[in-house]
Amino acid sequence: MSSAAQDAQFSCSRRSFLKGAAVVTATTAAGALLAACGSSDEVAQVAAAEIPVGGAYIMDRWIVSQPTEGQFVAFSRVCPHAQGDINKLGEFEGKKVAICAKHGSEFDITTGEVLSGPSRVGMSGAKSVAVKGDQVEITG
Ligand code: FES
Repeated sequence: MSSAAQDAQFSCSRRSFLKGAAVVTATTAAGALLAACGSSDEVAQVAAAEIPVGGAYIMDRWIVSQPTEGQFVAFSRVCPHAQGDINKLGEFEGKKVAICAKHGSEFDITTGEVLSGPSRVGMSGAKSVAVKGDQVEITG
């Protein structure tokens, strides 16, 4: 397990953690995916330092970007077109994009907007993104 994954923290109270039987699944070098406490929401964390200003970082379930310093947004990797995996970063007409592996739709990493189809719908945003210390916490 990486040190980043070992640094993952539960956002739940001890009581809700015990009730919800949260499970830790460390699956990336810099992030950890945590089952949320007693709800269907999942919480993932990544070190803010992994996300470049003006760029993005791809996690297990999320594409996390930092449009301006200290501002973070996250979008699901599940493509709205046909549930392909949005798993690459690139550029399209001067904008940084996330690219779906299945049919090649390209999405603006800062807004989630579709820039190139076949998808007609943008990426789904996370329910919340919060900075906690040196970590970015994504709930969705
Ligand atoms: S599933 Fe992503 S573009 Fe078709």
